[in-house]
Amino acid sequence: MKIRTATAGNAKAMSEMLQGLVTAGKRTARADVEFVLENYVGNPVGIRCSLAEDERGAFLGFQSLIRSTEANRYGTPVGWGIIGTHVSPDAARTGVGTALFAASRKAAIEAGLTKIEAFIGKDNKIAQSYYERMGFETYRQTDTAVCKAWTSDEN
Ligand SMILES: CC(C)(COP(=O)(O)OP(=O)(O)OC[C@H]1O[C@@H](n2cnc3c(N)ncnc32)[C@H](O)[C@@H]1OP(=O)(O)O)[C@@H](O)C(=O)NCCC(=O)NCCS
Repeated sequence: MKIRTATAGNAKAMSEMLQGLVTAGKRTARADVEFVLENYVGNPVGIRCSLAEDERGAFLGFQSLIRSTEANRYGTPVGWGIIGTHVSPDAARTGVGTALFAASRKAAIEAGLTKIEAFIGKDNKIAQSYYERMGFETYRQTDTAVCKAWTSDEN
């Protein structure tokens, strides 16, 4: 598996994979190319959007890490990172999410982040397990979500 930074040229494949998650009942948010470009690949507060592909170049998933600003839609404290992970249903539980977080963790430390928040649907037990495995701990809850935070141990 190879991890690299996603580009605008990957937006179509990312959108198709998100559509697959919608079809599989694992996503309810938008999945169109415009949404991918605005929120993931071309986000002005983006830190790194990492993409995973297999040895033949087949797309496996991506993870977005952005910086939280005043206007963020999640209520994440300003200056923290906000993370989102999306793995193809065909590649689930094969270590893609783990490999992506190794890249995002490195990017977070290089960007000087001390905290990253994941905003997870309260019924999404798989994602909750995933983020716990990556070292995130429950920090707050909303009516619809469990919010888990990763804390850097670099300083
Ligand atoms: C959550 C998600 C990102 C996990 O990615 P993944 O590539 O499957 O994760 P990995 O294979 O690296 O697994 C890492 C850990 O996550 C947890 N995990 C992953 N899939 C799991 C499952 N089906 N059941 C329970 N735990 C699971 C486990 O702790 C696992 O470690 P282990 O296999 O050593 O027990 C992936 O399932 C996904 O994209 N889901 C749909 C989109 C989504 O819900 N994103 C999060 C939105 S907040």
